[in-house]
Formats: sequence, C-alpha cells, structure tokens
Amino acid sequence: MRKAIIAGNWKMNKTPAEAKALVEALKPLVKDATCDVVVCVPAVDIATVKAAAEGSNIKVAAQNVHFMESGAYTGELSAEMLKAAGAEYVIIGHSERRQYFGETDFTVNKRVLAAVKAGLKVIVCVGEKKEERVDGYTDALVAYQTLIALTGLTDDEVKQVVVAYEPVWAIGTGLVATDEQANETICVIRKAIEGRYGKEVADAVRIQYGGSMKPSNVKGLMAQPEIDGGLIGGASLKAEDFSLVVNYDK
Ligand code: PGA
Repeated sequence: MRKAIIAGNWKMNKTPAEAKALVEALKPLVKDATCDVVVCVPAVDIATVKAAAEGSNIKVAAQNVHFMESGAYTGELSAEMLKAAGAEYVIIGHSERRQYFGETDFTVNKRVLAAVKAGLKVIVCVGEKKEERVDGYTDALVAYQTLIALTGLTDDEVKQVVVAYEPVWAIGTGLVATDEQANETICVIRKAIEGRYGKEVADAVRIQYGGSMKPSNVKGLMAQPEIDGGLIGGASLKAEDFSLVVNYDK
C-alpha cells in the first residue's frame, strides 16, 4: 500500500511572516491527516516554515534546486543549502519552470540526481500541454519525461521519488482532468517505470495528480486506484481549503 502524499505548492506567494501565519493556521487543521502533508514554499520561507512546523506532521519542500554543489552560479541554491535550511523535499521540473525558465528533461534529470545525492526527497513533475493531448502524444510524452527524469538513479532511489502528473492545461486554469483521464495517464507513467525498473519498483512509486485540485474534486480523484496524492497550487494558499484537500478521506 502506498501512503498518499498531498503537497501544497505555494509558488511565488507568501513572505516569511505570511508563511508563518499560514503554517500556524494549518497545523491544527491537518494534525489527524492519514497522508503525508508537505508545503512547498519559496526558498526564503523555508527556515521560518520549518520552525513554525516543528512538532507537527507538516513537512517542508523547496520549489527548485540547482544541480551543482557550489560555485559561480549567481542566484542559485544547492541541494545542501536547501536541506540545511530545513527542506526535506524539493519539487523538480514544474511546468512553470519548463515554460518560463528554460527547464528541459535533461536539466530536470541533473537536478533529480543532485537532490537525491544530497538526501532530499524529490517530487518530479511531468505533464502534457493541451495541443499535445489533442494530437495524441500524452502517453508517449509523459513516459519519456518520467524515464529521463529518473535516469541514473538506483532502483531503491526510484522507489523514493514522487512523480506529479500535472497536465499543463489544468494548472491554474480551473480546468481539471477527469478522474478517469488522470488515472489513465498515471497508469501509463507507472507502466513506463515498470518497463524500465520492474513491477516492485513501479508499485512503490507514489504518483500524484496536480492541476486545479481542490476541496470539491479531491475525493473523486483520490478514489482512483492509481492516484496517490496531489500537488495543489491555488487551493494551498488558504489553510481551510488546503486542510479540506488533505482531509479528503474524512
Ligand atoms: P493549481 O496548480 O492547483 O493552481 O492548478 C498546481 C501546480 O501547479 O502544481
């Protein structure tokens, strides 16, 4: 049985003071969650959120990581730095990074390897654009993105990775994949992992759905057998909304 994992992706929102207030409001609301609860926060909020979450079941994630250990990379943050600041997880390859910041499957893989080496847990994002779904490339594309992202990891390391399937057309748009669409594509991702690493590894990997997941649709999505959690943007910015997603089984 895979333990569900619900992660809030705050994106470029919340100052440290706002982040502290949100986590403090969230703590009592999610304390009985049966899933892993993660908040993916701006790097400048990591230390504050880690301190505010102390003694709770809320885990802290960064939203990106550089692939080098140190050096002349102005403006970048290494996996060691993020870990030292208090991050346990890191999102890699979010579609906004691919779309606006030149992220490629190759650099996603480099970041995954660097994060895993430093002991960060990885949430790696894959997903198709609208036209790619219309043209029938979704399955090939998500399989390819996933396998490239994982290249170079051992079987045991792959088992620890969380994959977030996020159809780009469903992110921040209010459009949501149907429960069945999300389940089917996640199934494709799991089969691709199975093809390369075998069934035992594929069955251990947790695969989230992301894209306009919110209190009103979380139950249906989480009832699907292949969906092991969610990566939540908009609905993670208010404690009440995010707690309703986290407590989807209550
Ligand atoms: P959304 O974002 O929930 O606002 O669609 C999801 C994401 O980008 O991870």
